[in-house]
Amino acid sequence: NTNGNKQAKTRNIVEKMDESNKNCVVFYGSQTGTAEDYASRLAKEGKSRFGLETMVADLEDYDFDNLGSLGEDRVAIFVLATYGEGEPTDNAVDFYEFITADEPAFSDPADPPLQSLKFVAFGLGNNTYEHYNSMVRNVSKALEKFGAQRIGMAGEGDDGAGTMEEDFLAWKEPMWKALAEKMGLEEREAVYEPVFGIVDRENLTKDSPEVYLGEPNKMHLEGTAKGPFNAHNPYIAPISESRELFTVKDRNCLHMEIDISGSNLNYTTGDHIAVWPTNSGIEVDRFLDITGLLEKRDSVISLKALEPTAKVPFPTPTTYDAIVRYHMEICAPVSRQFIATIAPFAPTEEAKAEMTKLGNDKDYFHEKITNRYFNIAQALAHVGGLEKWTAVPFSAFVEGLNKVQPRYYSISSSSLVQKKKIAITAVVESLQIPGQVEPLKGVTTNYLFSLMKKQHGDPSPDPLSYNITGPRNKYDGIHVPVHVRNSNFKLPSDPSKPIIMVGPGTGVAPFRAFVQERAAQAKAGENVGRTLLFFGCRKKAEDFLYSSEWKEYEKDMGGKFSLITAFSREGSKKVYVQHRLKEHAKEVNELLQQKAYFYVCGDAANMAREVNSTLARILSEQRDIPESKAEEVVKSMRAANQYQEDVWS
Ligand code: FAD
Ligand code: 2AM
Repeated sequence: NTNGNKQAKTRNIVEKMDESNKNCVVFYGSQTGTAEDYASRLAKEGKSRFGLETMVADLEDYDFDNLGSLGEDRVAIFVLATYGEGEPTDNAVDFYEFITADEPAFSDPADPPLQSLKFVAFGLGNNTYEHYNSMVRNVSKALEKFGAQRIGMAGEGDDGAGTMEEDFLAWKEPMWKALAEKMGLEEREAVYEPVFGIVDRENLTKDSPEVYLGEPNKMHLEGTAKGPFNAHNPYIAPISESRELFTVKDRNCLHMEIDISGSNLNYTTGDHIAVWPTNSGIEVDRFLDITGLLEKRDSVISLKALEPTAKVPFPTPTTYDAIVRYHMEICAPVSRQFIATIAPFAPTEEAKAEMTKLGNDKDYFHEKITNRYFNIAQALAHVGGLEKWTAVPFSAFVEGLNKVQPRYYSISSSSLVQKKKIAITAVVESLQIPGQVEPLKGVTTNYLFSLMKKQHGDPSPDPLSYNITGPRNKYDGIHVPVHVRNSNFKLPSDPSKPIIMVGPGTGVAPFRAFVQERAAQAKAGENVGRTLLFFGCRKKAEDFLYSSEWKEYEKDMGGKFSLITAFSREGSKKVYVQHRLKEHAKEVNELLQQKAYFYVCGDAANMAREVNSTLARILSEQRDIPESKAEEVVKSMRAANQYQEDVWS
């Protein structure tokens, strides 16, 4: 409980629904917050449009043995993201293992055990990954296998095609219709009903000791933070070193070293570090301005859950400024549904009509909002002109905008070499949008960039700079909230085994760690196997990451290590890592026959796929087997963990 209130929590979902008078539970399995957001949107909509008594539930918080006794007059909605290689999200691991077991230990004697369970399902996936939406598919199948009745289609949203939001909106209308029919619900005119009440705390100021200014929990507020540090309790880590690996016009890449020596955090080579960002000063100001909160930014408020199952998403009392700065994703793309929700609160009749049209008309919304990359404040300014949106209840923003999520980075240092210092290699996201003065800036990478500038004593007079030096930041100093996420992307435990790594761009991050580790092992006299790295970038003199380090590693490894580069923008034709892989087909095949591990890191959308198919072609040619057979070989390499991916889109 982020508020530090101790409550005896039941893990029995039936008991919970009984005591809070609910007839609809929306479970979510979420990694980056989108599934959680969709779950709360469904819960709100079910309540406001159909009078369902809904609650949202984190899959991690409940047991599932009594799902069969939820009752005929209730419904369970599952909103499930698929993570990485068809895996459940961290909070859904136990549920997934339970429900997909051959014989889950249901406590209900019914046969089949889930015959009275009605359920609805929506999945969030990415079609560039092989196991597209496998969570929702497998969970639906499992629930039905045990007799549960699915209502409507199991929906599938596709992040790979960039249509997640529209897939969700298109799926939910027929689903509501089917659900209303099945449960005999009448649709009514939806009115906004707040889930959280805003309580003014006039006796407090932002300097009062109990007021949160971005601290993730009570221990942090009171200066007694201690581990375990995790997604609920990040460690505020000093940045010990920061530099730019390259800077060219509009593009740069950071190398940062994060010092975890003051904590009990640990990592092993190949893990990820999660970084919790702070919104930029300019975006915080823009949001507070358009919502008419600029004057009140430092007023202290508390949030009160107006219904017992709702969880206040961040600790209070706090200020408007701190909520917007640390807890709300105010820079993200705007949701069409959210525009429709707040339309009634528009400042003028014209703005209201425009908001309603935007909410109802997908193509119009795309033309006016999505295609311009507007965030919420920009969208409101666009629709309302100079008017401020003071009538929108602040609770609607808290409920309707995503919670700030940590971003993950593949750790680019070896834990063997630097146990208590985690390196990050990150490209600073900045995109110039045609027709717009300001570039679109990634939240976290620009936050890190400004921390770097601050560390180097550069206050940056640039008005677009990510102002984190303001007086409001309690993590003042060169600090960043982090936690470590363990991954399965690992070196073979035997260092004498050969490895092949393919990592263009920042995809080289974990491979710098791998090579650093092997170089250290070689230096210590260990027998290190052949280590091949395929790296690609635009130009040798432009964005060649860690170019001077590789030579050192080559020396340390005495010829065991080779770096093979693909510079894509030097000649008349594009040269990519997969082309280089093809040129080295003979050695690649031989190493794989010696059971080399094969690793791919970086862009999930195109590169990882093309590397996979190139490898299949190499095997087909080198082993003189049909391509279909070679694809099977690659698949079985994946299954045996001989082929590992660490990819993102
Ligand atoms: P965000 O603010 O999250 O924006 C991301 C993108 O969203 C923008 O570039 C833009 O295209 C789009 N966007 C933002 N706002 C809008 C808007 N209003 N309208 C439309 N589009 C918008 N990255 C690395 O550099 N190095 C790594 O080693 C690395 N490892 C990773 C490992 C894993 C497992 C994962 C999942 C990701 C990894 N990433 C890595 C990516 C990283 O997590 C971040 O996604 C990336 O740094 C961008 O974060 P950001 O907060 O700066 O950008
Ligand atoms: P490009 O931008 O010139 O097309 C790191 O981003 C490197 O990966 C760049 O050299 C980039 O080339 C290259 N790249 C882009 N698309 C790729 C793909 N589909 N496969 C492999 N490399 C790719």
